[in-house]
Amino acid sequence: MSVIDEIKERLDIVDVISSYVPLKKAGRNYKALCPFHSEKTPSFVVFPDTQSWHCFGACNTGGDVFTFIMRRENMEFSEALRLLAERAGVSLEPRREGEEAAGKLIERLRAINSLAAEYFHHLLLNSPEGARARDYLSKRDISNETCKTFQLGYAQDEWQALGHYLTNKGYSWSDLLEAGLVLERKEGGYYDRFRGRLIFPIRDVRGYVVGFGARALDNTQPKYLNSPQTPLFDKSSILYGIDQAKDAIREQGFVVIVEGYMDVLMAHQYGRRNVVASMGTALTEKQVRVIKKLTKKLVLALDADAAGDQATLRGLEVAQEALDRRAVPVPTWRGLIRYEDQLDAEIRVVSLPTGKDPDEVLKENVAQWDALVAQALPVVEYYLQTIVSKFDLESPKDKVAAAREVLPIIKEIGSPVERAHYLQKLARMLRVDERMLQQEMESKKVAPRRLGTAAERYGRLSAQPGLTFGLEQYVLLLLLKRPELLDSMNALLVGLGLEPLSSADLTEVEKRALFELITRHIMQHQGIDMNALLQEAGALCDVLEDVLGLMEEIAFLSDEQADLDAAQCALRLRELRLLRRNEELRYLQEDAQAQGDAEAARRWAQKVNELTAQLVRLQKEKAARSSLRIVRQESP
Ligand code: UTP
Ligand code: MN
Repeated sequence: MSVIDEIKERLDIVDVISSYVPLKKAGRNYKALCPFHSEKTPSFVVFPDTQSWHCFGACNTGGDVFTFIMRRENMEFSEALRLLAERAGVSLEPRREGEEAAGKLIERLRAINSLAAEYFHHLLLNSPEGARARDYLSKRDISNETCKTFQLGYAQDEWQALGHYLTNKGYSWSDLLEAGLVLERKEGGYYDRFRGRLIFPIRDVRGYVVGFGARALDNTQPKYLNSPQTPLFDKSSILYGIDQAKDAIREQGFVVIVEGYMDVLMAHQYGRRNVVASMGTALTEKQVRVIKKLTKKLVLALDADAAGDQATLRGLEVAQEALDRRAVPVPTWRGLIRYEDQLDAEIRVVSLPTGKDPDEVLKENVAQWDALVAQALPVVEYYLQTIVSKFDLESPKDKVAAAREVLPIIKEIGSPVERAHYLQKLARMLRVDERMLQQEMESKKVAPRRLGTAAERYGRLSAQPGLTFGLEQYVLLLLLKRPELLDSMNALLVGLGLEPLSSADLTEVEKRALFELITRHIMQHQGIDMNALLQEAGALCDVLEDVLGLMEEIAFLSDEQADLDAAQCALRLRELRLLRRNEELRYLQEDAQAQGDAEAARRWAQKVNELTAQLVRLQKEKAARSSLRIVRQESP
């Protein structure tokens, strides 16, 4: 957990703010006269659910507890950090030493994994015992070349083969334990985790071996044994094959996500190199985020019956493993739509012929594979078709049931235009009146989007950093690379009658502070003077360096693309901000109504109208731009 998360977890924003401003409870939230501008009716609101505050009056800004202190005490980020750390009783110092030690451990674990991968690979190619695995691979039609590209390996069927090899190289058993390569015996001593299996080294984007998957060569269960969670191996963020696939993903502009190791091998062997595997787990938000640095277009290849009994059955067979893996590579439809929305990704779904894995389809008929991928449907579309096909649409009862199932999903879609589109579509499929569906969707029966999703977006929950992280980081990166984009983004927003970009468009306190630092710097220096900036960064140095570390990821970006992206980012950031505001205002309105405060309700309603007008202008522009892009792509 970062210091910031720790501080936020220990402090309650309501306590902190009420030590400066008298707060008055209004429904679920607290109101006050804004401490930052003078006013007669309170428009300053504190939201305990999201641990945030906002002034809906003249300031039209808000943030979290850090932002409040920075503004109120007129402090730099580093000063606010010190003040709040003290108040929360969180120490800022010793962590650094701890981090250094952690850095050394990571380096050691990488070296161990890399040696282990070489060792296994050597055994596969050369050892007599490895013939088992060589035969198996040829039976599965895996070529020698594929075997080398992916550095496949073989683990001998012995208790300490790898353990002895690595300890002879000078590594300690406890390091091997940390790397997940050995297990501890109850009576003392250690033994190899992977024995008598085909080995798949798993690498991160940069190519470091972070863990291993190991397939049984007979009917031993589980079929695949994977590295446990280690400081290097975070299952929820790894995609198998990403290191081999990343260039192809960029070149082709999309990624195909399959379930299994074998599927990736076969796809690459057939030259379909933009393919990675989620390794049998549900696609996670972290994985989407890794992908998003390469492309925003994702195609999920699912078993035809992925959501059905098959998957559950298979999960039971591997009961041991099933505990920490879900058998279906979809996190739930709602989850997917949220990813699309919040990470601004485009997810399509393709279903494979019943009972066939991608590796079989590829082998039997590559052309069919290509066609399937080309015909992948947008996630909502796919979902609509799947659900609707389960029902008899002539029966009124079934129509109601189908609508009940689909409406909460449609309600989840963030863009009003897209939401309307699918509502229309559903109305046509069910042959019912669209307005009825609209009413049904807005009724209380259909679970509303919880305010909790906003909390997630604020990145307050430490286990789940802000969902808009990627976007915020990207804007900072773009500014560092091409400082002149600041003017063009502002011109775009101002041209739409909106405020220029400000740190209030970002959600995470460190990113906000960094944004302020960078924009101030750009205005002072008419550009970026990197040495000066690093000096100015002070306590933000680490955050700045984190962002700079990603610079190489956008090295390929053309100026033209950067211009387009910057505009999209500015619009998207502002859109998210307005949506967050809207959500808050709706709650305030509901609360006021519930309390019979008609005057307040009317005021909030008026704010909602103003906001909606801004949102409409912005979304029109966004839509116009994306169609522009299509025209651009299509014209020779
Ligand atoms: P599958 O059971 O579909 O395996 O699981 P597969 O990839 O088709 O492998 P083959 O073709 O039978 O050799 C899909 C993925 O789920 C993970 C692995 O990543 C596997 O590739 N998995 C599966 C496990 O992690 N553990 C298991 O026990 C089974
Ligand atoms: Mn398979």
